Amino acid sequence: MRGPWTALAALLLALAPALAAAGDIAAGEQLYARRCALCHAGVAPGTIMLGRRLGKERALLAERTDLAADYVRQVVRQGLLGMPPFTRVDLSDAELAHVVAYLTRPRLPAPQGTAAPRSTTESRGAP
Ligand code: HEC
Repeated sequence: MRGPWTALAALLLALAPALAAAGDIAAGEQLYARRCALCHAGVAPGTIMLGRRLGKERALLAERTDLAADYVRQVVRQGLLGMPPFTRVDLSDAELAHVVAYLTRPRLPAPQGTAAPRSTTESRGAP
């Protein structure tokens, strides 16, 4: 039997993957705090290793603006050097989508045009 409910159900089924794939920034922030921050906040292995390899300004994952969604997904699923991989049991695809949404969340618009490295003169506190 076909009716309005069938159409609605079909619509919801069609939308579900898109909604899951979009991810939720607030949910991602919470998941990040629970699953990633132990290595990626403050003085922790992730922060230290990234700081050594990529420089201090790219050490804190949650403050990065250069992370591509595909790259984050790949590192989380496959691991990278000292970073252990997360299986779908550890972190579901929907949860990963939230974390990715958080790490790639829109920030204050950066000035367009010539991308000069930010603030070589201004420093955060005394050395
Ligand atoms: C057990 C510690 C640990 C946990 C937990 C962890 N990471 Fe990592 N992660 C690392 C380390 C260490 C590195 C640095 C690897 C290297 O460069 O040597 C890293 C690197 C990364 C990178 C690469 C950044 C770049 O610029 O190359 C991404 C992205 C990343 N982690 C995302 C995550 C996310 C998202 C989570 C939570 C779902 C997470 N990590 C949880 C240890 C961890």
